[in-house]
Amino acid sequence: MNFNLSEEQLMIQQAARDFANAELLPGVIERDNAQKFPYEQVKKMGELGFLGMMVDPQYGGAGMDSVSYVLAMEEIAKVDASAAVVMSVNNSLVCAGLEKFCNEEQKMKYLKPLASGEVIGAFALSEPEAGSDATSQKTTAEDKGDYYLLNGIKNWITNGGNATYYVVIAQTDVEKKHKGINAFIVEKGWEGFEIGPKEDKLGIRGSDTHSLIFNNVKVPKENRIGADGFGFNFAMAVLNGGRIGIASQALGIASGAYELALKYAKTRKAFKTEIINHQAIAFKLADMATQITAARMLCYKAAVEKDEGKDISESGAMAKLYASQVAMDTTIEAVQIHGGYGYVKEYHVERMMRDAKITQIYEGTSEIQKIVISRSIAKN
Ligand code: CAA
Repeated sequence: MNFNLSEEQLMIQQAARDFANAELLPGVIERDNAQKFPYEQVKKMGELGFLGMMVDPQYGGAGMDSVSYVLAMEEIAKVDASAAVVMSVNNSLVCAGLEKFCNEEQKMKYLKPLASGEVIGAFALSEPEAGSDATSQKTTAEDKGDYYLLNGIKNWITNGGNATYYVVIAQTDVEKKHKGINAFIVEKGWEGFEIGPKEDKLGIRGSDTHSLIFNNVKVPKENRIGADGFGFNFAMAVLNGGRIGIASQALGIASGAYELALKYAKTRKAFKTEIINHQAIAFKLADMATQITAARMLCYKAAVEKDEGKDISESGAMAKLYASQVAMDTTIEAVQIHGGYGYVKEYHVERMMRDAKITQIYEGTSEIQKIVISRSIAKN
């Protein structure tokens, strides 16, 4: 097994690190306070190829591998987890699904501007009564011949206000259960499509999360993704890859908090020595470093398996389950190591602790990851 990164992967990692420190770090606290979306920064991320990293260049992407994506995600999330989720949703939930399952016309029309970062996308699966239980879709897409009539509400949609194109999952034939679900590409501005108010969140406050309301929205038939009834399998396949993105976001939050805690522990003195010389602190840092390394390995493994075309449902879920737990544990300990300073905004770690929590909730809660993993273990 080769653990070395290639020259190209190291270059991408460095480019993401430089971008994060130069463009995302200034203002990250203010954006969190004001719930301000990083408009300019996201535009630059598009120019650098970070919004369609794995997409073929013929469709506006950067044509990179999934390990490079994990590396860039970690660096972005280390500094600004809000910018990282915008990147993760656009890459994994929107572009990857469109590239794999859309026809040529759909790719040229929608994937190209999304992958090049000209516009951003959103993925609308969750509903007020269908979060974990994704087969229970209440949003309906009635087949009207040459179009579908879309009605319903979607909840907690990342990029909900700022997206231009939306991948929307809806029930066409309730009798067929999950085989009666379809996925559609819906454009902002279509008659009857309304964006609900922005959610006031605990963390990732720089990203925008909205409900979406569909009231007799006419969706042309050519905007359906794949064959009739493919929508649920489409969503599951997309989420498998999406979990690598969120795992990498969690990894970045953890490693960002760890680096700050380590730096602080090397300079802050108490009881006549730097606090890293006290085992109470040094052992915390040792645990953090070990867990982060393990989380990173799980992310790389899932990414390599994705590029090899393997079934990544298990490895993606394992990476997300573990990395999100590490993000939570590490950020709590980073606040503890900082003592009183950790509790104030200026030192960043309290934001990271708030940001970490969502990685255990979206793209499937930790409990959902355990369902996916245990089913895979039982099957194999
Ligand atoms: N990969 C591929 N296919 C899968 C799959 C997976 N991980 N899990 C299920 N499927 C397929 C099954 O094979 C089956 O297909 P066939 O009938 O063709 O064989 C079909 O899906 C139905 O499977 P189940 O009967 O097992 O479905 P279920 O009702 O028991 O649910 C579940 C399975 C794993 C719990 C699923 O509902 C799930 O993943 N829920 C969580 C949804 C989720 O992650 N939501 C997050 C929203 S997106 C988000 O958060 C974005 C954001 O803003 C950041």
